[in-house]
Amino acid sequence: MLKYYQEIINNLKQDSHFRDIKNFNRKDAKYIYFQDKRLINLSSNNYLGFADNIEITKEFLEYAKDQYSFGSASARLLTGTLPAYSELEKLISNIFKKENTLLFNSGYHANVGINSCIASRGDVIFSDKLNHASIIDGMKLSDGKFFRYPHNNMEALEKLLIRERKNFNNAVIVSESVFSMDGDIADIEKLVELKEKYNCLLILDEAHAFGVFGQIGLGVTETLGLTDKIDLIIGTFGKAIGSTGAFVTGNKILIDYLTNKARSFIFSTALAPINIAFSKWIIENKLPYTFEKRMNMLKIGQKAGSQSHIIPLIIGTNKDTVDTCEILFHNGYFTLPIRPPTVPEGTSRIRISLTTDINEKELFDAISLVKQKQQQ
Ligand SMILES: Cc1ncc(COP(=O)(O)O)c(C=O)c1O
Repeated sequence: MLKYYQEIINNLKQDSHFRDIKNFNRKDAKYIYFQDKRLINLSSNNYLGFADNIEITKEFLEYAKDQYSFGSASARLLTGTLPAYSELEKLISNIFKKENTLLFNSGYHANVGINSCIASRGDVIFSDKLNHASIIDGMKLSDGKFFRYPHNNMEALEKLLIRERKNFNNAVIVSESVFSMDGDIADIEKLVELKEKYNCLLILDEAHAFGVFGQIGLGVTETLGLTDKIDLIIGTFGKAIGSTGAFVTGNKILIDYLTNKARSFIFSTALAPINIAFSKWIIENKLPYTFEKRMNMLKIGQKAGSQSHIIPLIIGTNKDTVDTCEILFHNGYFTLPIRPPTVPEGTSRIRISLTTDINEKELFDAISLVKQKQQQ
């Protein structure tokens, strides 16, 4: 039987598709240390530099002292809810001006849990074609039906709504705000218009925007002044916040429903209290001082042709993408090839993600190396 799996692995290797786990020596601000090299890390979601930061870790541990343990030993609905959890939930509700919030162990848990239960038999979900794997996995587990509309194509979504909305009871539209692999931004104003016109719930995953966009860092909806129009906003702590975990915030009825129905919330041990406390501490004590740096990072991303701090350099084949990463590696940059199924077939790419520590010259030097390789 193992032969079957070995063959699949062989095929993956042949297509430059095989993934392996890299063991890094350490990470420090914008640098990552790998195979005796110090490289500029262009593949990090540590957008604000809060993760792997010795000074911040020391400062937090000094504050935390022995207040928080390293294990919750229980799911939240059993004996896993200490004050740190409800304090973080309250903080998120307050900053978003929402009624209630529910923490999840990761963005993956949140999207799987929410999208698997938000639609039941007779209901429908309309999902952007490029939504994250966790949203797709959640929908696949759902008893409802789902349709995937062409990426960010509001005309196509409306046509689908006209054709299908009447055939279902409840309807949900789900989108990312900043798309994780393309760095472009959903047309949130139009999504709000459509959700109102066709009586749908709107779920927005701000995983890559929370902590980056907006005056206080709530995400793209804050920039647009539309936070109150979104039924459920999802954010993660594992990216800009430099911690781990995720949240969904919205009205009390929906959060009560998710607390009772989202299986990835119900049936998993809660994150460690120390983690929860770290997320809260970062949001309260560090995030408020990042506005200028965040705006500068976004400006650099825009100069490189993106709408955000995520810059996709689309190469095409897996092999060319892997080879280009290799060239960048030998020139002092760490990047990762992004290949199907993470992105559509034929659009393998290098996904550059900026952090506030990376300057314009470093970015554009890397981009010209990629361009040189493409011209060969
Ligand atoms: C849009 C989006 N949502 C959710 C997730 C999952 O978040 P987490 O890494 O916290 O599981 C990701 C991860 O990359 C993402 O890009």
